[in-house]
Amino acid sequence: MTQTLTIRRPDDWHLHLRDGAMLQAVLPETTRHFGRAIVMPNLVPPVVTGADAAAYRARIDAAMPEGAPFEPLMMLYLTEETDGADVVAAHKAGIITAVKLYPAGATTNSASGVRDMAKVRPVLEAMAEAGVPLCCHGEVTDAEIDIFDREAVFIDRVLEPLRRDVPELKVIMEHVTTRDAVDYVQTADRNLAATITTHHLIINRNHILVGGIKPHYYCLPVAKREEHRKALMAAATSGDARFFLGTDSAPHTDPNKEQACGCAGVFSATNTMSCLAHVFEDAGALDKLEAFTSLNGPAYYGLPVNEGTITLTKGDPVAYPDKLMTGEGPVTLFDPGFPLLWHVEA
Ligand code: NCD
Ligand code: ZN
Repeated sequence: MTQTLTIRRPDDWHLHLRDGAMLQAVLPETTRHFGRAIVMPNLVPPVVTGADAAAYRARIDAAMPEGAPFEPLMMLYLTEETDGADVVAAHKAGIITAVKLYPAGATTNSASGVRDMAKVRPVLEAMAEAGVPLCCHGEVTDAEIDIFDREAVFIDRVLEPLRRDVPELKVIMEHVTTRDAVDYVQTADRNLAATITTHHLIINRNHILVGGIKPHYYCLPVAKREEHRKALMAAATSGDARFFLGTDSAPHTDPNKEQACGCAGVFSATNTMSCLAHVFEDAGALDKLEAFTSLNGPAYYGLPVNEGTITLTKGDPVAYPDKLMTGEGPVTLFDPGFPLLWHVEA
């Protein structure tokens, strides 16, 4: 019996497209299946002003595969020097959709991030007033905090005070990896949602560390214990509108991943929808896939759902390549560790 599922064209609410030759190579991997994506601003140098975002958007448009029904949703990288008026003007002009908070030093290219939340308070208040959402990389960076605890500590030290001080600010806690974050998001009746990546629904920290170190499973926030993965699965497959897909597909070349100090990031744009159909089916929740990938995100952002659809069909294993060849070098595709039987037709 053929199993087929047609859903609204999905969106990716957290995506790294990079720039130059890497952008050229990875963009079609997303536009093939997705209608929109929030494009991360952590370039070198970062996308900090409305003018930067407009210029980056033009480079993405120039790399766009012909006729792709895809809209990049741009964002600004919040720094302690960010001008609230520029943010609000860029949002009003339709140049940006959101702003990104990176605690300084939290992850790849986050050196210009925020050290002192008090310094960005006026910008956050202007954003709340103008309805500009804030996407948070939710990890503290203090050297004394264990890397596996950084997300939970962020909730107590940064997120909760922020939401108390600026309650009208629309917040997205990105790529949540813990039961603590899931529980916290579920306590909010408004102005808080979370994205979950494909890989955090599939791997736990054993995948990174048991039987030899696996650099291609290393990303930030780092995958946690199995009990946390289960909490993420429960949230993603529940249909709860506060949870939606942000793949955090983050390409790095193999030489940059496979070295003494390997970069953080999992590249999953190519096979994400096949991976998700597999795990949702496993959980007996295929009927909740569309909410997670295509409905909850637009509802939270106040955007219409995509017009088009994609159709997933279960059959023989899909032959995804192991690597994407790019002008900067090969990029290894996320290996879920099981055959992918769900084919995607867009
Ligand atoms: C991202 C990257 O490579 O830009 N890496 C990652 O592990 N997720 C940065 C980020 O989103 O944290
Ligand atoms: Zn990311």
